[in-house]
Amino acid sequence: MFEVQKMQQQLFVLLLLLPLRQVLSKDVQECQLLQHSNYICREIESFKQLNERVQSNWQSVRIVNEHRGIENDATTPLPKLAELRSLDLSDSKGLTLSENGFRDFEALEQLNITYCQLDKLQAKHLQGIVQLRNLDASFNDIQEISRNAMEQLPNLVYANLSNNLIASVELHAFKDLKHLQFLDMTTNEQGNVTIGDCPSLLYLSISNNNVRDFAWCHLRGLPKLRELHLHSNWLEVLDTALFETLPELRVLNVSNNNIYAVSPELFTGASGEQGAPLLLLDYSSNNVRVLPDLVFSRLNRLETLNLWSNQLSEIGSKAFVGLKALRSLRLQGNKISRLPDNVFANLNNLERLDLSRNTIREIGSMVFGETLFRRLTQLDLSVNSIEVLHPLAFASLPFLQSLKLKSNKLTHLDVRMFAPLRRLQVLTLSENWLPEIESDVLTLFEQLLSLEINNNRLTFLPALNATLSQLRRISVEGNPWQCACLDELTSWLDTRKVAYANAPNAYFSGQKPLCVVTPVAHCIRDLVAVRAHSIIESYDKI
Ligand SMILES: *[C@@H]1O[C@H](CO)[C@@H](O)[C@H](O)[C@H]1NC(C)=O
Ligand SMILES: *[C@@H]1O[C@H](CO)[C@@H](O)[C@H](O)[C@H]1NC(C)=O
Ligand SMILES: *[C@@H]1O[C@H](CO)[C@@H](O)[C@H](O)[C@H]1NC(C)=O
Ligand SMILES: *[C@@H]1O[C@H](CO)[C@@H](O)[C@H](O)[C@H]1NC(C)=O
Ligand SMILES: *[C@@H]1O[C@H](CO)[C@@H](O)[C@H](O)[C@H]1NC(C)=O
Repeated sequence: MFEVQKMQQQLFVLLLLLPLRQVLSKDVQECQLLQHSNYICREIESFKQLNERVQSNWQSVRIVNEHRGIENDATTPLPKLAELRSLDLSDSKGLTLSENGFRDFEALEQLNITYCQLDKLQAKHLQGIVQLRNLDASFNDIQEISRNAMEQLPNLVYANLSNNLIASVELHAFKDLKHLQFLDMTTNEQGNVTIGDCPSLLYLSISNNNVRDFAWCHLRGLPKLRELHLHSNWLEVLDTALFETLPELRVLNVSNNNIYAVSPELFTGASGEQGAPLLLLDYSSNNVRVLPDLVFSRLNRLETLNLWSNQLSEIGSKAFVGLKALRSLRLQGNKISRLPDNVFANLNNLERLDLSRNTIREIGSMVFGETLFRRLTQLDLSVNSIEVLHPLAFASLPFLQSLKLKSNKLTHLDVRMFAPLRRLQVLTLSENWLPEIESDVLTLFEQLLSLEINNNRLTFLPALNATLSQLRRISVEGNPWQCACLDELTSWLDTRKVAYANAPNAYFSGQKPLCVVTPVAHCIRDLVAVRAHSIIESYDKI
């Protein structure tokens, strides 16, 4: 009896102590060494308090406050702070700056003031930190950028001002920052691009702002710019002669605007004998309807071209001429119904081509031209309306590893079409109207790892025996299989350890029939006989 009471008492005391200890530890100031000379300090409420803690061998400090922000209330100099190279206030729960700003941090090279609830970057606050190279001021409420403030940071290389409320940037605000290379102003409120001169800038993002009026000349002060991100604005037109203003541009992202055209004149301007330097062009999620002939002909170094989710319905047969270095072409999610002969001819460095989610009805024999595509391994034609695949359509693509034809209207597979595709590893033919896949087609797929033939009109497959020797995965559901044939198929798959149940799935969970019981006990492998037994029709009625 006595023992139990004592235990209860102990427990009670423990329970009382626990929350108390937590409360206490939260507000305890402490600094810990993280690694080398990097420290983390907790519950520091002022620069003065920080100054009392910093030791002479410290290089970098990260402040983590649980409740209160940090302020600089000091009126006297704080000499210890002059030792620090890096200051991270991103977890300080807010920063309040007085006249002196960061003045005492004379040696500071990196300053992280994200999430500090700042609404201004003022010159007086930035005075004295002339060594600063990296400034991350993202996720604040800064509304404007003045030249007067920025010129306090003559050695800045990297400035991240993203996720603020910047609506106005004073012209030439960054002009005196001779070393500035990266400037990120993504997710702000700028309506115009008014950056002016910034002689060393390599990377600029004004994505996700409100830019409407835009012309290349607004970027005339950025002769070295290599990457320009302008996605998610309200751009409608891009004027001509891009390279006249930006002769070094390698990456241009204008995705997710309202641009309704691409014109060949866009890519003109002073580009040397080697042609335009652009490597990546992202024009996705715009309203482009037409790709005229020779539109990209100057972009002979372009490697990536994204045109997905536009309104493209017309593609000139010479639209892609000149794209000698192109490796990835994405045209999915447009309204392309017709591919002219030779439209992809001579794109012989292509590695992947995505044409899914269009309304293509036919792939003719000459779409890829006659020269071999030695690098093209991925072709996606799924979710179109393809009824006709010319037997020679893929004749120049013997290196394909993945061919996706899911969700089309195919009723027949021609052995001549697949004969060159000896390296196929992934083939999706699901959601078509195939009543049969012939034995001579299946025997071609010696490298195939994954085959999707679900949701067709298949009632049987030819005897598989030694075919498909590499197969690891198949999907078969949603076909009017004769039960005898499906039994044979699944026992073959089981012996070969091929996975075939796609989970979760109405067919495999028993909500829909997997097969049709026929009057005969064996698998009928003859389309005429299958028709005579009306197997497909009886499946449709279920
Ligand atoms: C600044 O701090 C934030 C939050 O801790 C972090 O995500 C970001 O990467 C830091 N910025 C730099 C330039 O290190
Ligand atoms: C700027 O900061 C944002 C948010 O942390 C980050 O996503 C972005 O990559 C940074 N920009 C650059 C150029 O480093
Ligand atoms: C952008 O600048 C143009 C002049 O280049 C001016 O007419 C227009 O009003 C400006 N728009 C905004 C939103 O400031
Ligand atoms: C271009 O911007 C879009 C946002 O609209 C983004 O999803 C995409 O990754 C960017 N492209 C590149 C190549 O950075
Ligand atoms: C396939 O195997 C079956 C026995 O499992 C045999 O009857 C048939 O002749 C074989 N077919 C071929 C084409 O080898």
